[in-house]
Amino acid sequence: MSSEKILITGSNGQLGTVIATRLIEKHGHDNVILSDIKGPSESVQKFEFLDILNKNALSEVFKKHNVTQVYHLAAILSATGEKIPMKCWEVNVTGYLNVLEACRETGVKKIFFPSSIAVFGSDAQKKNAPQNSALNPSTVYGMSKVSGEHWSSYYSHRYDMDIRSLRYPGVIGYQSLPGGGTTDYAVEIFHEAILHGKYTCFLSEHTGLPMIYMDDVVNATMMLMEAPKENITIRTSYNLEGDSFTPAEIATEIQKHIPAFEMSYAPDERQQIADSWIDSMDDTAARKDWKWRPKFILPDMVEDMLTNLRELGLESKKKIYNLEN
Ligand code: NAD
Ligand code: SER
Repeated sequence: MSSEKILITGSNGQLGTVIATRLIEKHGHDNVILSDIKGPSESVQKFEFLDILNKNALSEVFKKHNVTQVYHLAAILSATGEKIPMKCWEVNVTGYLNVLEACRETGVKKIFFPSSIAVFGSDAQKKNAPQNSALNPSTVYGMSKVSGEHWSSYYSHRYDMDIRSLRYPGVIGYQSLPGGGTTDYAVEIFHEAILHGKYTCFLSEHTGLPMIYMDDVVNATMMLMEAPKENITIRTSYNLEGDSFTPAEIATEIQKHIPAFEMSYAPDERQQIADSWIDSMDDTAARKDWKWRPKFILPDMVEDMLTNLRELGLESKKKIYNLEN
């Protein structure tokens, strides 16, 4: 059994719930400590109520569990961030610095930090944005992720820590619901297609964005974290591509399975955020350094989402929608 003790911050979120399952499968319940500011929807073996703004509490929990690795997933996402910019900066930047300092003080060397497509701004090359693009984001969320990338690089080099990071595209999965993001439409659409046969999208029909399927994003995260240290050439954050598509393209693909599905468009304030982001990015470095290859493109994602959501049935939909408590 694993000698690692892995702590996840923000473990109740869209990604945390799924990454936790994968880590528990690999390392065992005893070796994975989940943490969040809100309690889990299901009972889990090791859970700590932990606010990343409380640095002392972070250090105490790291010591209590002899933590050796941290997956730092706690954050406030892009759309929510624009509503509460100061809080977003505090949680995403001060919170991350608290995690880094607690790691440094308690000897935790290995950390995963998720960055985002939000680091790119409207001056970045829209298609196939290079790894070394200029990063001039227009959202506070994007600014916080650029800052997080630089702090990751700083702590890696200054304190010889092994911090690894990915610029996640918008994540699509049936296991959990997103909240507060600009890419959330690409998950909501499946639930609404099954439940009501129609969806009103908050982005316009030709808004192309990089997206990735949950299985791929979890695989990428594990591949990155398990790669030999000498293979990691980028200490800010790796570009990561799954597939890129528009709301119109996802609707057309859903109509192949649900011919009566109706899509309409009512862009809101999230349109401006999406317009400032790129369409796709060049992930050659990830492919070269740790052999990244996505398995799911749009047709596979749509088929798998619909199959799994239907198989989950009403009981699990209640769980997904957090209606149980
Ligand atoms: P999420 O919003 O679903 O989950 C974030 C979790 O952080 C929540 O459970 C929340 O309770 C917790 N949290 C918030 N403030 C906290 C605090 N002060 N202390 C402790 N926990 C706190 O987000 P997610 O989609 O699971 O994203 C996880 C990470 O991946 C984030 O860093 C996010 O920026 C990044 N990311 C996500 C996507 C995506 O499409 N989901 C894309 C790019 C990057
Ligand atoms: N999917 C995230 C969001 O929309 C991007 O990091 O906020």
